[in-house]
Amino acid sequence: PVKVRVADLLSRMSLDDKLGQMMQAERLGVKSPADVTTGRLGSLLSGGSSQPTPNTPVTWADMYDGFQKAALATPLGIPLIYGVDAVHGHNGLYGATVFPHNIGLGATRDPNLVQRIGRATAEEVSGTGIDWDFAPCLCVARNDRWGRTYESFGEVPQLATEMTSIITGLQGKELNRPGSVMATAKHYVGDGGTTGGVNEGNTEISEQELRQIHLPPFKAAIQRGVGSVMISYSSWNSVKLHANSYLVNDVLKKELGFKGIVVSDYNGVDKIDGKTGFTPEEVEASINAGIDMVMVPYEWQKFIDTLRTLVQDGRVPMSRIDDANKRILTKKFELGLFEHPLTDRRFLTTIGSEQHRDLARQAVRESQVLLKNENHVLPLSKRDKIFVAGKNADDIGNQSGGWTVGWQGTSGPVIPGTTILQGITSNSKKVTYAKDGTGIDKSYDVAVAVVGETPYAEGKGDRPQGMGLDAADLATLQKLKDSGVPTVVVLVSGRPLDIAAQLPDWAGLVESWLPGSEGQGVADVLFGAYNPTGKLPVTWMRSADQQPINAGDGKPALFPFGYGLHYPRHW
Ligand code: IFM
Repeated sequence: PVKVRVADLLSRMSLDDKLGQMMQAERLGVKSPADVTTGRLGSLLSGGSSQPTPNTPVTWADMYDGFQKAALATPLGIPLIYGVDAVHGHNGLYGATVFPHNIGLGATRDPNLVQRIGRATAEEVSGTGIDWDFAPCLCVARNDRWGRTYESFGEVPQLATEMTSIITGLQGKELNRPGSVMATAKHYVGDGGTTGGVNEGNTEISEQELRQIHLPPFKAAIQRGVGSVMISYSSWNSVKLHANSYLVNDVLKKELGFKGIVVSDYNGVDKIDGKTGFTPEEVEASINAGIDMVMVPYEWQKFIDTLRTLVQDGRVPMSRIDDANKRILTKKFELGLFEHPLTDRRFLTTIGSEQHRDLARQAVRESQVLLKNENHVLPLSKRDKIFVAGKNADDIGNQSGGWTVGWQGTSGPVIPGTTILQGITSNSKKVTYAKDGTGIDKSYDVAVAVVGETPYAEGKGDRPQGMGLDAADLATLQKLKDSGVPTVVVLVSGRPLDIAAQLPDWAGLVESWLPGSEGQGVADVLFGAYNPTGKLPVTWMRSADQQPINAGDGKPALFPFGYGLHYPRHW
């Protein structure tokens, strides 16, 4: 049994073996695989922009195996566990299926579909050797100014709670089954509740509200056996979560009974005192607060040395180090890493497979929310003469959002798949496209403007000021308006935008969220191959100064939480 194996291994480990297990280094933070052997490192990660060159599945698998062999060459031969942010498919890998971001999955209200997405993601991740996924984000986004709103399933705890089904998909029936990866419930806790929607900010709410709004999805994740929990950069009433012994030790581990690995966020320990670089005090506070593994990511040697001194001085008890190691080793045994440490290359064929792309297309269809449909301008007819415009019409990078190949995402034809424009042209032969709307005239039956946001991730996406469309979008829309042709707007965005002033100009409005690599799914809805079923997972503001605006708070919305139209049965 795993318990016996863990106890046996632990009894043979030196202090340095144990400290090494607690480190998670960025793979760019080790000069060569030999560093893994000398540092006895327990884990590596590829952060959002840390892909191997060339970025192919086999290169990933070879890289993984190289590091894994180095770990096996340590005196005790303890295998590595390797993590990535596969937050909407194996999005770091070129050629992977890129699913809609969580906000769109929240709009589907379909936990079953989301579980299947988890499974497909796990298979694609497994094909590259990786064992650990830093997903799902279970944040309950309460203020749409927050740049990570799109990583949330929605503004109410019920949505993230139901969508913990993705964990069951990722982890499979058992962690050691082929094609399973360990999931991470993140970011514990209250990351979506910060004042002003500031990333890594301060969540100033009562304990009752924290427990009612932000804690339930974590409870559900633990019930589903999630293997790890990542700590939030944010603070709760001015105390950083990374140093919050009450919420980590007492609530998460004791009260909720979480037995897996508590991992820090990237440089999360450094950020406790708000100054760059970690101090012995920060290391002491975080490990004693209950963090088991530290995403260092570069200064792992210094971290090991600091922690060793703290243990020797009695400031971090040896029992805490042993507890962290027990948790880490238990998961490694459960994952079957000791028996099958190297990449299971059977899963390489699942990467970007037709089956997975079909599933993604289905998810895109289900995630579209029809918000306005004046005079039944939608669905489009294949016979219509259609003018397509907008910066997000023919840009697969834009439609995929942040965390796509690079951390901040990228614009342009950066990944395989279909753009929304390609989806439209595959349905109709009478399509003219001009990104900025130039050339539209009265001869068109309908115009489709695909506008909205461009990729961002984490704090780069916070919008403390305006939340409206940018100048380029407004100029494009003006040309369409001037033509007098009825306009359908397809909004590609990670959150509701401030559109109340333009809405009267539009005959139709579809919120597409960040659909990912299968733009065909958007066209399926536009042409009525799929009758829209998506429902808003967030309340849509009338103006940005209403933020935060959430279901039940009595503020007048442009579209309420849960809103979403359908086509009449007989269209
Ligand atoms: O998993 C992420 C987290 O969500 C934000 N900071 C970086 C981590 C690792 O890439």
